[in-house]
Amino acid sequence: MKVLIVGYGGMGREIERTLAERGHGVLARVDPQPGVGDLKSLAEAPLGEADVAIEFSASSAVLDNAKRYAASRLPAVVGTTGWESSREAVRRTVEDAGGAYIWGANFSIGAHLYFDLVERAARIINPFPQYDIMVLEMHHRRKKDSPSGTALKIAERILAASERKRRIVDTRLDRRIEDDELHVASLRGGDFPGTHKVYLDSPADTIEITHTARNRAGFALGAVLAAEWLVGKRGFFQVEDFIRERLG
Ligand SMILES: NC(=O)c1ccc[n+]([C@@H]2O[C@H](COP(=O)([O-])OP(=O)(O)OC[C@H]3O[C@@H](n4cnc5c(N)ncnc54)[C@H](O)[C@@H]3O)[C@@H](O)[C@H]2O)c1
Repeated sequence: MKVLIVGYGGMGREIERTLAERGHGVLARVDPQPGVGDLKSLAEAPLGEADVAIEFSASSAVLDNAKRYAASRLPAVVGTTGWESSREAVRRTVEDAGGAYIWGANFSIGAHLYFDLVERAARIINPFPQYDIMVLEMHHRRKKDSPSGTALKIAERILAASERKRRIVDTRLDRRIEDDELHVASLRGGDFPGTHKVYLDSPADTIEITHTARNRAGFALGAVLAAEWLVGKRGFFQVEDFIRERLG
């Protein structure tokens, strides 16, 4: 595949390494920062020459970029987080143009195995009211959104399985938490590529289930595999659609 890398930060560089390992080529790197990448914006990019775009950029860029991919019918894999408010607009843009688009807050295969474990954990404590459940996520100091998209995904899976938790609380609490609220807390600093913890806590003990991303390689491999899967398809997909098909 000839790939357009959109966003040439930490993830964009990791994507480039993974593409080389899997025998794919890079058409160009798009990034508005001076001295970073080859092109400043998608408006300058030869979209017709690419097989697929892989974007890990900024939430504010996602909708405009989606319009450009759709206009050129360029399939796009988007790992950028924090654009929940434009999700519907992006979906309509892609579907109206008959484009191909896959997005996900976490492209790592291990994280999806973790989501399944967490959902199961939330279900098996249902008959044991002494166990409460909560989520903590830790990320490097450069991360611009909180809670992480992955933490929100974890929280959704817990809400789906839990008979007690009904709502996510991810803001500062100046009051006692309600029994039906699921607390999702964020810690920022250092260089963590992404650590997510789910606690099952009772008066007698604590059970911790942790996913630790050791580096960015797992996210990049998942995104490149998703690009290979997407080329030739049409539609607005989530990473779960790809994972489900790959993991069976
Ligand atoms: N889905 C996943 O698996 C996953 C994994 C890691 C990070 N992320 C997300 O990916 C995004 C990028 O992460 P990162 O660690 O590489 O961040 P980063 O800050 O290192 O890099 C982002 C780059 O995007 C560039 N950028 C900003 N606006 C742009 C635009 N309009 N077009 C092209 N490039 C633009 C910035 O200049 C920067 O170089 C974040 O939203 C992060 O949360 C997702």
